[in-house]
Amino acid sequence: MNSQNIYDDNEFFRLYSILNSKPNGAPDSIPTFRFLEKIKSTKTQPKIQCVLELACGNGWFSNYMATKENVKSVRAFDLSENMLDLAKRIHSHPVISYELADMETIQLPNQSFDLGFSSLALHYVLNFKSLVQSIHQSLNPGGHFFAIIEHPIYTAPTVREWIPNTQDPPSTGSCNMTRGEMIWPLYDYQVEGDRVVDWIVNGVLKRHRTMSTYLNIFMDCGFDIRGIEEFSPPTMELNNTVHLEIDRHRPKFLILSVQKHIE
Ligand SMILES: C[S@@+](CC[C@H](N)C(=O)[O-])C[C@H]1O[C@@H](n2cnc3c(N)ncnc32)[C@H](O)[C@@H]1O
Repeated sequence: MNSQNIYDDNEFFRLYSILNSKPNGAPDSIPTFRFLEKIKSTKTQPKIQCVLELACGNGWFSNYMATKENVKSVRAFDLSENMLDLAKRIHSHPVISYELADMETIQLPNQSFDLGFSSLALHYVLNFKSLVQSIHQSLNPGGHFFAIIEHPIYTAPTVREWIPNTQDPPSTGSCNMTRGEMIWPLYDYQVEGDRVVDWIVNGVLKRHRTMSTYLNIFMDCGFDIRGIEEFSPPTMELNNTVHLEIDRHRPKFLILSVQKHIE
């Protein structure tokens, strides 16, 4: 198995739980909900009754679909027993089944879901194309898949820390970046592959892919791109929805809405 199951590492999980101790549920500003409203009114999207969630974590999205969208069934998978226990504890619902599975190797049923979703996990996957093929065959024709992925500009550098600008801006042109302002160290963008990063604990294995790789894989597998957002989330800890000024310098998440072709 290629997958690093860091969420079942006790120390990681303890610290992750503290970090995520904010109120459950996603902020309404996440573009996924705008995508959801948009696709519900399109003629080609089948009525959303059966939902797939990959790497469901604490189950907030599955729970949202069950309670707010009244779907008939949700199959929610995750690699981590810790996360599934948490999901069952805080987001259990009669139509949701939480199941232990590695999305790198999962066998999804053919043409069974009207909507698929995965948040903050596809950047862990090694064999991304094979996963996208599997998602594609599991969707009904016209079904959408929403992905929230760490943005390639965010995943490129191994050391993910803002650094102070040491240069004065050029005297010509319209650059208004001042000396001392924090800048994002974008390097190794074209070097795809593993990134072992220090995030919560040392040695978390993530994967970097360029924007064109993500989009081309979805298109090669038979999806049409229906929506793209490059997003930095509001900071929940600071009084509900505060956008950090620094986040205007680079996107943190890539959010995609893709639709399976209708044959
Ligand atoms: C940052 S959390 C995101 C959880 C949730 N989707 C959310 O948005 O809050 C990443 C999740 O991906 C899961 N995960 C990572 N690799 C996985 C894999 N190969 N198969 C299934 N789940 C995986 C982890 O166990 C964890 O629950």
